[in-house]
Amino acid sequence: MIKKIRISGVRCIKNAILEPSEKLNIISGANGSGKTSILESINIISGMKHFKSGKIIDSINHNMGYLQITADALSMNKSSYIPIAISRKNSCKKPEIKIKGVATSMVSNLATIMPVQKITANTFQFLESSSKFRRGLLDWGMFHVKHSSFFPLWQQLQKAVNQRNIALKKIISSKQINEIFPWDFLIEKISLQIDLLRQAYFDELAPIFYDVMNNLCGYGYNLKISYFCGWDNKRKLMEELQNSITKDINQGYTSCGAHKADILFEIENIKGRKKASCVLSRGEMKLTVCAFKIAQSILFNSKTSRKCIFLLDDLPAELDKNNIDKVINSLITLDSQVFVTSIEAKDVTKTVSSSVAAKVFVVKKGNVQLT
Ligand SMILES: Nc1ncnc2c1ncn2[C@@H]1O[C@H](COP(=O)(O)OP(=O)(O)OP(=O)(O)O)[C@@H](O)[C@H]1O
Ligand SMILES: [Mg+2]
Repeated sequence: MIKKIRISGVRCIKNAILEPSEKLNIISGANGSGKTSILESINIISGMKHFKSGKIIDSINHNMGYLQITADALSMNKSSYIPIAISRKNSCKKPEIKIKGVATSMVSNLATIMPVQKITANTFQFLESSSKFRRGLLDWGMFHVKHSSFFPLWQQLQKAVNQRNIALKKIISSKQINEIFPWDFLIEKISLQIDLLRQAYFDELAPIFYDVMNNLCGYGYNLKISYFCGWDNKRKLMEELQNSITKDINQGYTSCGAHKADILFEIENIKGRKKASCVLSRGEMKLTVCAFKIAQSILFNSKTSRKCIFLLDDLPAELDKNNIDKVINSLITLDSQVFVTSIEAKDVTKTVSSSVAAKVFVVKKGNVQLT
């Protein structure tokens, strides 16, 4: 949870200070006023990448040449608010990060303090796009719930896969294939450990997800989710890696292992299962992903007693009024800190009970005011 945030040089926002509500924050204003830029600032200081393109440098205000975001964030043991800061100059390659005034090079340290879930106009694409997006969903939970066991393994896996990919690209004769095998052993060893953690997380998450789906999505399909570990689990990963070696050399990358894990969203009927993205509408897909993120925050809360921060940008995209109400009210019931953008504040205020502690901020040409 954030108590105070100061934003300088993020897109059109030159200087702004917000003291948000612990519950609902509505960021209103005309197109191009700077609503998304505020959510982007929270996303950047939460250690996630740039809200849209993934690059912080694109967020730096053209005229200022640097950005700085500082916030007072609830500590992990919830005993106090701690100062966190991130700044980035056009002229420097890396951002500067400080937690309680102490410099750190690890962006992941910010992410540990600020568990943020975001829902944007493109959220429905999680079901349509490549496995990378759904793996990202899964690994959000792995990072925040099983952090100490998962994160070091995940870093080791990235390194091992990169090294194997580099080695694959260097192979010019079949005699050199032996040089790949040490990486195969390592990828198998780490993948098996990551698989156990992901499977355990998924098994706890799935029933919560079905519960949330029942409340949120009344679309009448029998949606099933399943976890794919990244290789055919009826076979040994080592065998799969060695069988796919010719294909991997041709493609220049490693085609199986925990780095290829996925969550399958499928619609089940008497004829069998079909990819949900082939059946559901965009609005239904967006609701399904919202349900998944809400389920993740419920599990996160039950494991850590901490709450997530939800950033809802352009919620009305693809959703009708009834579904917008349902999503916002589910998040309020969860007691999360919510930041929602809306051109007109009343479009959100009329959907929530007046007893909810809401703050409305109006943004005009990058200037932010509390109403
Ligand atoms: N690096 C930058 N420096 C300065 N201004 C920028 C930069 N990048 C984007 N902008 C501008 O910042 C303004 C605010 O953008 P933002 O996406 O926050 O608007 P918004 O209020 O969310 O609008 P919409 O309602 O259309 O979603 C836009 O006019 C955009 O062109
Ligand atoms: Mg916007």
